[in-house]
Amino acid sequence: MKILYIGDIMAEPGISIVSEVLPGLKREQEIDFVVAQSENVSNGKGMAVADMKRLQLLGVDFFTGGNHTTEIEELNSLLQNPDSPVIGPANMPNCPGQGWKYHIVSGQKICVVSIMGSKVGKEIEMTNPLQRIDQILPQIDDDTFATIVNFHGDYSSEKRIFGYYLDGKVTAVVGDHWHVSTSDAMILPNGTAHITDVGMCGSLHSSLGVTLDSVIPRWKDGVVNKNELATKRPYQFNAVIIDVADDGVVNSIEQIQKIVD
Ligand SMILES: [Fe+2]
Ligand SMILES: [Fe+2]
Repeated sequence: MKILYIGDIMAEPGISIVSEVLPGLKREQEIDFVVAQSENVSNGKGMAVADMKRLQLLGVDFFTGGNHTTEIEELNSLLQNPDSPVIGPANMPNCPGQGWKYHIVSGQKICVVSIMGSKVGKEIEMTNPLQRIDQILPQIDDDTFATIVNFHGDYSSEKRIFGYYLDGKVTAVVGDHWHVSTSDAMILPNGTAHITDVGMCGSLHSSLGVTLDSVIPRWKDGVVNKNELATKRPYQFNAVIIDVADDGVVNSIEQIQKIVD
């Protein structure tokens, strides 16, 4: 089974590049299941249900979440519904839903878990990520074919150790939230696929999908301003493909990076 995990889809530029890349990539690579980080889909903050439907029509099957997931309230009922393919972080107490769900792919049960790292920019209420995943793993059904854990956080050290902590216990641990990809996709010693950060989808010449004009004065002079969405092309698409053999063993993890003018 081939699983594609797409990094943070940053607003309309992110949706655009997904529409340009995903249908062909799915065909060429014979992808069976597509997961995407959804916390920035609607104007950078949260995901509206209408935008979720647009992405489903483009081929996204399942949506993980992060620190922005709770910012659009209409998603809350879907986060709580076990049959709706969207989750928020399992260790974020004010996020509706338990933070992990099953999805059936070609008759096989896949479990997707969303966990937030200890730091994600602003202070946010959360519980310990390692302690929370320890609570979740024993609850996952024995007949689960693959377990994909998304780790959404800032500290590179924590993103690395989260992979090693789960090595041999889950199929893959995919990091995001940085919007900048790392070049360390690998299979860890006990068989778990890992990448520290998968990167983002959206405007390339930007700071995480935000215009440089709005962000530089903030860093240089302490100007308090709002994020201005970067919409100029070229656009970037960042993802990983995790290939899982029929016995559940990970064959490979491959980084996909596309820049389109
Ligand atoms: Fe993000
Ligand atoms: Fe985030």
